[in-house]
Amino acid sequence: MKIIKVADQVEGGKKGFEILSEKMANGAKTLGLATGSTPVEFYKQVVASDLDFSDMTSVNLDEYVGLDADHEQSYRHFMGEQLFNAKPFKVNYLPNGKAEDLQAEAKHYDQIIAENPIDLQILGIGSNGHIGFNEPGTPFDSTTHIVDLAESTIKDNARFFENEEEVPKKAISMGIASILGAKSIVLMAYGENKADAVAAMVNGEQTEDLPASALQNHDDVYVIVDEAAASKL
Ligand code: F6R
Repeated sequence: MKIIKVADQVEGGKKGFEILSEKMANGAKTLGLATGSTPVEFYKQVVASDLDFSDMTSVNLDEYVGLDADHEQSYRHFMGEQLFNAKPFKVNYLPNGKAEDLQAEAKHYDQIIAENPIDLQILGIGSNGHIGFNEPGTPFDSTTHIVDLAESTIKDNARFFENEEEVPKKAISMGIASILGAKSIVLMAYGENKADAVAAMVNGEQTEDLPASALQNHDDVYVIVDEAAASKL
């Protein structure tokens, strides 16, 4: 793993953007994208740039189960606001969390990933070490699946909703094997709340109890961290 220490999230967004530009200059066509607070500055850099995405494909990591696509907290809505409305892609894939048959939707999403191999995957990390919504205990060989969100994730994400009860309890997420299939990975982490997870991901033993430790198996991972998130490395 290449550890890149930055002063703050704005500098982290710029570093992430530099890596993206370089990968696109070298032919990257499919981006794996994340939501949440972490990539927001990165998306600002992308939106402010003159990079053209009209020939690019995006495949998002995850979506809440049960939220309409136009719900303010759906990840489809988030991606529109942060990136897609300003930078049109050829196609944007996100799992459909309103699918009637969620298992069939998970299979369908795996097919999409197989047909659109991810060149660069953007990741955040949960305070419990999750990547995508692969909570502790998820097998490293998992593909897209339906997830019961961990209590800690529901609490962490309650800040986006009116109260904790409003946070969906389930999500549909790419699996760990799906993420490891990306050619290159940029994981960003900011703040003290992420320090334990970052330390365990980089220096801890590889264990399904800490999903991000699976990234130790990948040979092109950039970890962009501010001082607080790097404080236990
Ligand atoms: C988001 C995702 C999650 C987040 C993680 C960190 O698509 O898959 O793994 O990256 O929960 O969330 P933030 O960035 O809000 O701290």
